[in-house]
This record gives sequence, C-alpha cells and structure tokens, in this order.
Amino acid sequence: MYTQSFSVPDNSSPKGATPIAAIEPPELMEKFDKCIDDDGRIEPQDWMPDAYRKTLVRQISQHAHSEIVGMLPEGNWISRAPSLKRKAILIAKVQDEGGHGLYLYSAAETLGTSRDQMLEGLHTGRAKYSSIFNYPTSTWADIGVVGWLVDGAAIMNQIPLCRCSYGPYARAMVRVCKEESFHQRQGYEALLVMMTGTAEQKEMVQEAVNRWWWKCLAMFGPPDADSPNSAQGMRWGIKRISNDDLRQKFVDATIPQAKVLGVTLPDPDLKWNEERQHYDYGQIDWDEFWATVNGNGPCNKERLNTRVKAWNEGQWVRDAAMAHARKQNTLKEAA
Ligand SMILES: [Fe+2]
Ligand SMILES: [Fe+2]
Repeated sequence: MYTQSFSVPDNSSPKGATPIAAIEPPELMEKFDKCIDDDGRIEPQDWMPDAYRKTLVRQISQHAHSEIVGMLPEGNWISRAPSLKRKAILIAKVQDEGGHGLYLYSAAETLGTSRDQMLEGLHTGRAKYSSIFNYPTSTWADIGVVGWLVDGAAIMNQIPLCRCSYGPYARAMVRVCKEESFHQRQGYEALLVMMTGTAEQKEMVQEAVNRWWWKCLAMFGPPDADSPNSAQGMRWGIKRISNDDLRQKFVDATIPQAKVLGVTLPDPDLKWNEERQHYDYGQIDWDEFWATVNGNGPCNKERLNTRVKAWNEGQWVRDAAMAHARKQNTLKEAA
C-alpha cells in the first residue's frame, strides 16, 4: 500500500544533502534532466544525481516497510475470519502484501542499498512506514474497511507511481496495483455482505468507517502548502500528483461507494461544490497524524516489536539458506 510515509522525512539518510547542481557534473546532469523532461526511464546502470538516488532509496524502502508492517493488523484476523472463504481471501491478501514488500526491497537494492541496511533502519526506528498501520483492527468490520478505504487510498496513490521515472520502481508498481485492486474489492464486498445482515453487523460497519475515515484522508500526507519536498519529487518524475489533489480524487471516488454501501462518512462538512466540481470536506486532525508518525500512535511499539521479533526468530532460516547456497556453490565448483 501506502503513501503518506513518502511525504514525511525519516532519519534513514544523512541530513543536509548538498545542493545537487553544485556538485554534480554538468554534462551528466544535462543528460539526466533531458531523460526526465522526455518522460524517459532511469535504469540502475544509468548515472543519476546523488540526491535523486537517496530520495528513491528513502521512498522505496519506506514503501517496502509499509507493506510488511501492513501485514500485521490484518494477519491478526486470519485465525478469527468468520468463514473459510473469508479466511482464504484474507490469507491471500496478507501474502500479497508480503510479496509487495519483496518486490520493493529488490527495487531499492538496485540503487546500491542492501536489504540488511534497510531493515536495520526499520528495526531501530530510524526509518518510517505508513502510520495507518499503527492503529488497531478492533472488529471484523475493520478488515473490510481496511480493504475498501486503506487499500483504496493506496491505489489512488500508487497508480501514478506506475509512471515513476525510476524504471524498477515503476515496473514493480504495475503488478502491485493489480493486486491492490483485488484487495480493495474484497474489502468492499465483505462490507456489502455485512450490510445485508443484522442491525449489529450494520452498526459494526458504520463504527469501523467512523474509526478509519479521517486516518485514510491523512494517508495522502500533509497539505501541499506544508510539503516542501513535493516540488522536487514532481520535477524528478517520482511524484506525479500532489497530496491534496490525490486526497480530493479519493474523496470524490469514495462518496458514491459509501452511498451504495449505505454508510455515512463521519464528516458534516462533506458536500458537493458546484463551482469546483468536487466534494468539499472538513479539517483533518494533523496533530494526531504527527503524533502517530512520531511514534505515539496506539500500536507503534507493538508493530515494531513484532517485526523485530520475527526478524530475530527467522535468523536460523537465513543461516540455513546461506549454508545451502554455499554448499551448492562448492558442488558446482567441484563439478
Ligand atoms: Fe500492498
Ligand atoms: Fe493491499
């Protein structure tokens, strides 16, 4: 999934990068700029400015971390899914998210950063991941809402990334987006079924929508006026649509879906604006957003501890895989 993490800094790369134009060779910069202007793709073997490389490593690794941390709030419901069908769907979805993490770590590795370095950033809390996963999934309806709204917001954000100027990232996103589309639909379908059920089930869906709506709007990141790095991302063809424009697209697309579902979105200021030809919406609580980004959300510590524990307990698997690879090499050399 996930996106808002891309718009906020983390401490995974050195601060105070030197201005690009001042240090990069002008003839190489010119070639790079021309490729970007022509909407071409930069590939791993191509020369690129150091700041472009660092921005991509930060963004792609944050994205990869978000995918694997995003497995946790949903994985937590696999054993409690209400039917075999829902369990099978949920297992497939959580497995997809693990796969997304793997494609993205591989894409980031092509920029010269090792997976160990990236994971070390995650495990020590230096690197960020999408804050949406620092909230709990309290009922089964939350799983439907996460698919409908969280994966829905992710798709909105990720479709433009399929045209990202860095080839390996753009290509990974094509497949990721296809799978995200399945995630969004399965969530919406699960909710549609619940909304034909008992009064309690309908209430459960409404309560879950109330819990997640504002957090999903915040997933698009701070308002454009407070996103100083966005212009550079746009110039480099990494970011194609601004945070506020993506948020507006999401609001406009979701309101008709909420009507079909029969739920109310918890915002009294939501209304169609004839002049703008878009829906107006209310104020997002950015204090809550920043508190969660900075480690004080309800599940930040739990999520990180779970990832670190999984990493430590998986050491024997990594050791065994390395031992097997060494043995294969020895056999090949002897042959
Ligand atoms: Fe994903
Ligand atoms: Fe997803």
